[in-house]
Amino acid sequence: MSNDGVNAGRRRFLVAATSVVGAAGAVGAAVPFVGSWFPSAKAKAAGAPVKVNVSKIEPGQQMVAEWRGQPVFIVRRTEEILGNLTNLHDAVADPESQASVQPAYVDPQTRSIKPELLLLVGLCTHLGCSPSFRPEVAPADLGPEWVGGYFCPCHGSRYDLAGRVYKAQPAPLNLPVPPHMYESDDVIVIGVDQEQA
Ligand code: FES
Repeated sequence: MSNDGVNAGRRRFLVAATSVVGAAGAVGAAVPFVGSWFPSAKAKAAGAPVKVNVSKIEPGQQMVAEWRGQPVFIVRRTEEILGNLTNLHDAVADPESQASVQPAYVDPQTRSIKPELLLLVGLCTHLGCSPSFRPEVAPADLGPEWVGGYFCPCHGSRYDLAGRVYKAQPAPLNLPVPPHMYESDDVIVIGVDQEQA
């Protein structure tokens, strides 16, 4: 009699335990669907693509997006800025980014899909500080030759407005261009490659 009582108790316990596992399983099965609709903060940090609307960036100005926990500089370049890139060809260390990181589908010199919009990973290639955006021409602290670019506050590396490092700087390489594509004229997706023609 007493054995029956124990077995009955165990059966009840097993039924209860199975129910709990079943409930947990149901919750677990729902998570991947929710996860695919709304990438978690952790998934974003791990590399999910980031969409950015660039319509509000004024000519000559930059906005900063975040992708994989890194700043991404987005600059709307003017005709004047683009003209200066040609003039700086001999002043920069790697004018066509032969040794620097950029996707194959960006132009080698302007380092962009569309010349007017530049995207750069905003971390200095020396020791990883974030360079300052300095679009002014000939400011007192950067000298009369300065036509706008990036200045790294840590050890003074200078880059132009294509993210190309000047010669003889602590930084060895140009700022990387991240993978990106245009979803529309105003929306860029960072972290997804543009289809190549
Ligand atoms: S980290 Fe930029 S110059 Fe050293």
